[in-house]
Amino acid sequence: MNKKTEEIEIRTLLKTLTTKEKIGQLMQLAPFFFIHDLEVEVAGPLRELNLDADKIYLSGSILGVGSPEEMIRVQKKYLERSRHKIPLLFMADVIHGYKTIFPVPIALGATFHPELAELTARISAREASTSGIHVTFSPMADLARDPRWGRVVEGFGEDPYLTGTMAASMVKGYQKGGINQDDALASCIKHFAGYGASEAGRDYNTVDLSRIALFSDYLEPYKRALDAGARLVMTSFNTLDRIPATINPFLLRTVLREKWNSGAVTISDYDSLGQVKAHGVAHDDREIAKKGLTAGLDIEMASSSYINHLEELIQTNEVDESLLDEAVLRVLQLKKDIGLFENPYKGANPNKHQSIVLSKEHLDLSYRVAKESAVLLENDGILPLSNDVSIALVGPYANNKSVIGPWSWHGKRDLHNSLYDVLKDRVSFTHTSADIEDYSKEDKAKLQTASIVVLALGEPDYFSGEAHSRSDISLPDHQDDFFQAIRSINPNTVVILFNGRPLLLNQVKESRALLECFFLGSMSSEVIKDILYGIVNPSGKLPISFPRAVGQIPLYYNHLNTGRPYHVENKSNEYVSKYMDVVNTPLYPFGYGLSYTQFFYDNLTISNEILCPDETLHVSVNLTNIGQVKGQEVVQLYLRDHVARVSRPIQELKRFQKIELQSNETKMIHFYLTISDLQYSMEDGEMVYDQGLFTVMVGSSSTDYLETTFTLKESHK
Ligand code: GLC
Repeated sequence: MNKKTEEIEIRTLLKTLTTKEKIGQLMQLAPFFFIHDLEVEVAGPLRELNLDADKIYLSGSILGVGSPEEMIRVQKKYLERSRHKIPLLFMADVIHGYKTIFPVPIALGATFHPELAELTARISAREASTSGIHVTFSPMADLARDPRWGRVVEGFGEDPYLTGTMAASMVKGYQKGGINQDDALASCIKHFAGYGASEAGRDYNTVDLSRIALFSDYLEPYKRALDAGARLVMTSFNTLDRIPATINPFLLRTVLREKWNSGAVTISDYDSLGQVKAHGVAHDDREIAKKGLTAGLDIEMASSSYINHLEELIQTNEVDESLLDEAVLRVLQLKKDIGLFENPYKGANPNKHQSIVLSKEHLDLSYRVAKESAVLLENDGILPLSNDVSIALVGPYANNKSVIGPWSWHGKRDLHNSLYDVLKDRVSFTHTSADIEDYSKEDKAKLQTASIVVLALGEPDYFSGEAHSRSDISLPDHQDDFFQAIRSINPNTVVILFNGRPLLLNQVKESRALLECFFLGSMSSEVIKDILYGIVNPSGKLPISFPRAVGQIPLYYNHLNTGRPYHVENKSNEYVSKYMDVVNTPLYPFGYGLSYTQFFYDNLTISNEILCPDETLHVSVNLTNIGQVKGQEVVQLYLRDHVARVSRPIQELKRFQKIELQSNETKMIHFYLTISDLQYSMEDGEMVYDQGLFTVMVGSSSTDYLETTFTLKESHK
């Protein structure tokens, strides 16, 4: 059957629906409306939403189910009552794993290994689909440059290229083989758009972005994810140009439909359409419904303005029914492409659910991803530990299973090992308090005689995630004081960090070793143990800058030069862009991470001193592992465009490769750049380039690299 016939079929189906039934396809509610006795629900949340049982059974999709049995029960109950028998679509937040939990996205970004992001999504889809889930609200492609924002944990950091690469890889992983596959999930990217630029890092706050910043930095990752095939786009809570993104025609029609020619289904965030009233951009739900559909919002999640007002708006010709048809067709097409018309219970499989969820194969894969996520920030050689070394293990994460992140939904913390569980046969002393006053004289004596003191510190997993922003990003509960107190008893400290965002590490930086683990998921403790004892050589690199002070935020590597750049060498010059009380640089820069071995770069070579727009620039560098053990290095390539129509960042990540080398092995690494890598966006989204000088930087971080230059010219003459 050709595509044309399929569309006719969908269009034929559309014609059989009443206006109310069409509108129902654009409503998404939580599952409890279907699971409990509706009469009971009518008195509760339903009344707030002005819904009744008949309206409920017009719904087109459901947010979240917890098991295959629940999905089957809800779908069956729904279809029995439905006149049109169009199956419900089941959507859920499968963010970094379903029951087998992988590292949180910020830690996944630290792998700089897109194949691992794809693998994470693949396994997540394999597990979640057995519960009859068809769509996941993932990946979050929001650029995040403000660690006060709790949702930094759910993104891939501050760089558009890294974020776009990882987001696109996750889309491919979720949708591998096609969204009609039983073990695939359709990907809904989020939150469109610019949510990560919430002022002051306060969640749900205003976003005031220039168009050129929007196009240059913030939109790229969503575009990359859509180009990878994402089938849905979730709107964000914030305003853009002072218009809520959920009813913003510039985003939902001009950018998404006209510029990007996307046919993706748009869906609001949770009640973000209803919240347009709070934004002060609509008087009532009736106006909200009109603005939402007109702007290009398809599905309304967890609010009820469409179902309660669109029919009357159409009857009074205030909204053209063609807008409704356009939105419903996108939803019906998605259901058809997923295969719901053939099998309304697609994916739901209790037996498969039992056999593959949390399987050893999946846990092993979670270990494989997690071991490349940890970032070694400091090490004077104390790590790796020798096997016979006994350790004291102290701090809030010494025996804590909450290491699967703030949004692991179905993940169960108590299913996995704590650090103490996996280290206990090597632990001479342990205590979970981070207050030295809780340590007796005997305790301190044990600390003093221990060979090594491992401090497991950090912030609780609920300190990050949605609605969990912090104005102070220090280690909580005076853990810095605790670290200093421990260090004064025994200087042989190894600090392990569990956190969902960059923290202020000025004090723990003095530790003999400092390992940033973020939240590594189901196999966190096993991975950390293997890193401590050298079975795993850490290879993570920071996907986001770690500031020295909150006052530096927003602080990111790909910043503009300004007219008065501050350089350490011209410190005497007072009238430059700097602070009086802290240097401009981060404590740990983007792309930074140590290894148990050392890598040496030399022989950076480029194919052209003069490059024309139709030519490809070949960049090569020799990488040597000059240390004693095998290791992986993320070779990063940055560009600087020195003169353009607008001011351009001092460097931009354009490529990276993760390379594993044996001790004393050398490998030539190759990169190829074309004109599309030299272009930049103007304020209307048009991509342009300028002739002139470019610098190529290739190295192990945004601050440690070899460099050379070339000139872009229209011709060699
Ligand atoms: C939340 C989040 C969004 C999530 C949605 C559904 O408010 O902002 O990321 O996918 O609701 O749970």
